[in-house]
Amino acid sequence: MNILLIGSGAREHAIARAFKRSPQNPNLFCFGANVNPGIKDISTGYTTGKITDLEAILNFALTNKIELVFVGPEAPLAAGVADKLWENNIPCVGQKQILCQVETSKGFTRDLIIEYNIPGSIKYKRFNSLEGVEDFLIELEELYVVKADGLANGKGVKVAGDHLHSHLEALTYCQELITEKSNFVIEEKLIGQEFSLMSFCDGTNLAHMPAVQDHKRAFANDEGPNTGGMGTYSDANHLLPFLTAEDIIQAQTINQATINALKNKFGEDYVGVLYGGFMITKNGVKLIEYNARFGDPEAMNVLAILDSDFIELCQAIVNGTLTQEHAKFKNLATVCKYAAPIGYPDNPVKNQKIDISNIQNKEQLYFASVDEREDGLYEIGSRTVAVVGIAQTIYEAEKIAEAEINKIKGPLFHRKDIGTKELIEKRVKMMKRIRNDR
Ligand code: AMP
Ligand code: GLY
Repeated sequence: MNILLIGSGAREHAIARAFKRSPQNPNLFCFGANVNPGIKDISTGYTTGKITDLEAILNFALTNKIELVFVGPEAPLAAGVADKLWENNIPCVGQKQILCQVETSKGFTRDLIIEYNIPGSIKYKRFNSLEGVEDFLIELEELYVVKADGLANGKGVKVAGDHLHSHLEALTYCQELITEKSNFVIEEKLIGQEFSLMSFCDGTNLAHMPAVQDHKRAFANDEGPNTGGMGTYSDANHLLPFLTAEDIIQAQTINQATINALKNKFGEDYVGVLYGGFMITKNGVKLIEYNARFGDPEAMNVLAILDSDFIELCQAIVNGTLTQEHAKFKNLATVCKYAAPIGYPDNPVKNQKIDISNIQNKEQLYFASVDEREDGLYEIGSRTVAVVGIAQTIYEAEKIAEAEINKIKGPLFHRKDIGTKELIEKRVKMMKRIRNDR
């Protein structure tokens, strides 16, 4: 079977490995923005180009007689790559453009949740001018968040208390967005713990993945600027230490209701991964946002323990025959840590050599923003490589990931606290306090 993977980051490296583990032994092809040495090593064919160039992707797929496509990042999906491939009878895991609005417009998602009476909604308003902004800020008191409506690479969200310290600062940010011709949403600030609950979808049926917690801030103790995600963990029971089984069911129910709503609204099947970003609060599970793809690094956590044939799973997704049986996960805990260039995300060092030769378990090393040159591997400015520890408990998995990442040489940094007992106990304590406050 000939399979095409679009994208070339660590998330796609994890997807590529999941395909290669299939007993069906596929020929893997990759269309990436750059060469990922890990994906290249296990690919039959590899090309680089603009991953939103639909004609180039289609041509590469046709030339290589591709029978199934998996799209990693959001940009090609938002550009309509799934529409293009299906028009040419090439099955694609990754939903059509119109359905990507769950990720590409925060206002669209908030409206959808209200329109279909889906649980997990919060107070919000959509704006395209300053009219009414101040009144709404007053209504929300000091608990507000201002978000650019569209894709902003994680940089469009500013939270009161963290990034905005007065109504004046909030209004200034709103004016900035208006000047950039960006619509925006203001919503209530939630207090609690965030988690990611991703589901495979065939348009009607969902198969849920284990819950994962990401760490967006650059430095230990959740300090510093927001990043693409510095690391993640998941637990052996597929819950998280601060979540109950009921919390997870609430999140799964919200994902299912959203897929049903999208089908009702557009008459189109959502074929791909729905990634719910949730917050558990004193009032239950609330939706922060949706992504229309696998999370990065979340994909590394869940795919590392996927116990099913990934090709069979993808075929069930595109054929509309998905059940939870297609997505079985081992009862093991995982911790993923990213090494990023010193100075990331604001002023990362670039074109510096790194050395990964001491890594013990190369199967759990994932390449991201790296360039393989004649004299070795170079970091090129974004999250560089990730390692995953897998064990019976989060703490054991953390020790494995931490030991491995410390073996990487070069001007890199990582968060030592992700998955540690100290940090997790802090989160559990916080949630206990919040729940008792009810
Ligand atoms: P988003 O791009 O919507 O995921 O937002 C990025 C980050 O901003 C989230 O991961 C949260 O940490 C934070 N955030 C977004 N919306 C809210 C909210 N309503 N309340 C509290 N924090 C939020
Ligand atoms: N882990 C955050 C993201 O993939 O958007």
